[in-house]
Amino acid sequence: MPIILETKQITKRFGELAAVNNLSFDVNEKEIFGIAGPNGAGKTTLFNVISGIYSGSGEIDYFGERIDRLRPFQVCLKGIARTFQIPTVFSTLTVYDNIRIGAHFGNHSLNEKKIINDVLEFIGLTEKQHIEAKHLPLFDKKLTMLGAALATEPKLILLDEPIGGLSPKEINESVELFKRINNELGITIIVIEHLMKVLMAISQRMMIIHNGEKICIGSPEEVARDKQVIEVYLGAEYA
Ligand SMILES: Nc1ncnc2c1ncn2[C@@H]1O[C@H](COP(=O)(O)OP(=O)(O)O)[C@@H](O)[C@H]1O
Ligand SMILES: [Mg+2]
Repeated sequence: MPIILETKQITKRFGELAAVNNLSFDVNEKEIFGIAGPNGAGKTTLFNVISGIYSGSGEIDYFGERIDRLRPFQVCLKGIARTFQIPTVFSTLTVYDNIRIGAHFGNHSLNEKKIINDVLEFIGLTEKQHIEAKHLPLFDKKLTMLGAALATEPKLILLDEPIGGLSPKEINESVELFKRINNELGITIIVIEHLMKVLMAISQRMMIIHNGEKICIGSPEEVARDKQVIEVYLGAEYA
């Protein structure tokens, strides 16, 4: 598969702190690429740099085109969508309208209704489409945020700890949904997750970061037996 995203020596500093430090990696089209690392490792900052919220140094190529100077809405229009660690929805709007905003951002005014209804069906919220987002339980809020991202019709989606706070049943449903997003919609996924069991089960390749730096990249098996990964992240009992 061709490379969809290529990052070259990305660095993002907050004062003295290099939250992301000289990070280079490639993501292949149609792959599920997992990212893990300790709290504060720089995972969310990396997503903020890719999605144009922060500008750092280094280069980011998307289908061979530089995107590292674009603003967030321009990154979105290129076909990169994201979700947030803390569910971020328009709380006074209905599920339908939240997803409509995604469709609108994706600039699909001609077939907006069809996209919204398809997305509602896909995430399983058709029945709840008229509920105001503030009345939804956590899982449905997360689905709504994901739905808004899907409605932009991305080629690449960035999921930041999407299963945090969910029950085991909801985690299973989420994993199935991510697989369908990947298989049925053909969308490339980069997913940050600290539940290693889940991440290893869905990722073709994974990257572990620590103090903003890449310490290992490879298949789940390769990552799980890497000495440095065990030392700084997994702990000896995992090995
Ligand atoms: N806007 C910010 N200003 C200052 N420091 C920040 C900011 N965002 C993140 N950081 C710091 O950068 C480091 C990486 O944070 P983050 O990317 O959120 O880590 P992770 O998502 O891996 O837990 C942390 O030390 C955090 O405190
Ligand atoms: Mg984070």
